[in-house]
Amino acid sequence: MEVVIKRDYDQMSKAAAQLVVDVLNTKPNAVLGMATGSTPLGLYQELVRLHQAGQVDFSRVTTFNLDEYVGLPANHPQSYHYFMDEHFFRHVNIPRHNINIPSGTTSNYPAFCQWYEGRIAECGGIDLQILGIGSDGHIAFNEPGSSLSSRTRLKTLSKQTIDDNARFFERREDVPVYAITMGVGTILDARKLVLVASGKTKAKAIAQAVEGPVTSMVTASALQLHRDATVIVDADAAAGLTMRDYYEFIYAAKPAAPKS
Ligand code: PGA
Repeated sequence: MEVVIKRDYDQMSKAAAQLVVDVLNTKPNAVLGMATGSTPLGLYQELVRLHQAGQVDFSRVTTFNLDEYVGLPANHPQSYHYFMDEHFFRHVNIPRHNINIPSGTTSNYPAFCQWYEGRIAECGGIDLQILGIGSDGHIAFNEPGSSLSSRTRLKTLSKQTIDDNARFFERREDVPVYAITMGVGTILDARKLVLVASGKTKAKAIAQAVEGPVTSMVTASALQLHRDATVIVDADAAAGLTMRDYYEFIYAAKPAAPKS
């Protein structure tokens, strides 16, 4: 796992955006795995900026989102469909039919989950999966206790996640209790992973995910099993890392990527 520590949120977002651009430079028709939440907002803003400046083209890109709340239609302001449209898709040139987001309103969840997995495979698998991390250590909605080989399915949100996400809803009771989410196994199948985290509230989860044991109690720790995972954090989120100097030493000694 590569750990990159940036001084603030802005630098973290730019470094993550650069990673996406690098993938698209090598493979313009890449399949990108998208994440929602406050953390990747800066990354999406940077990609939109680069796109508007003519520096990155998404016309051949396919996307798969990690998750969606059960019960929220695509036009609900708190749905992840709405979030993605608002913050990313309507500002870039990804063809509509290349955008895949789990349905929060299907009448048959098991069949939909199976279809979603099949669709990812049909598109050749995910080249780069973007991830955030919950304060309970989750990736996507893989709450503590999720199998590390789980696939797309329904999950019940943890109390911690409901509390964390209540800020987006009028009342805590409005936060959906279930979500449809890619599994940890689905995520680990992506060829490359990038996880972004910012702020003190993520320091403990990041320390557990990066330096703790691999455990289903902190599903982000499954990144340790992946051959090509990068964790990009700001200084606050890095606060609990004991090997911080070592990560900074490795990063400083890294040769610059050749320009394509
Ligand atoms: P956040 O959510 O970016 O809004 O903190 C992260 C997550 O729960 O994955």
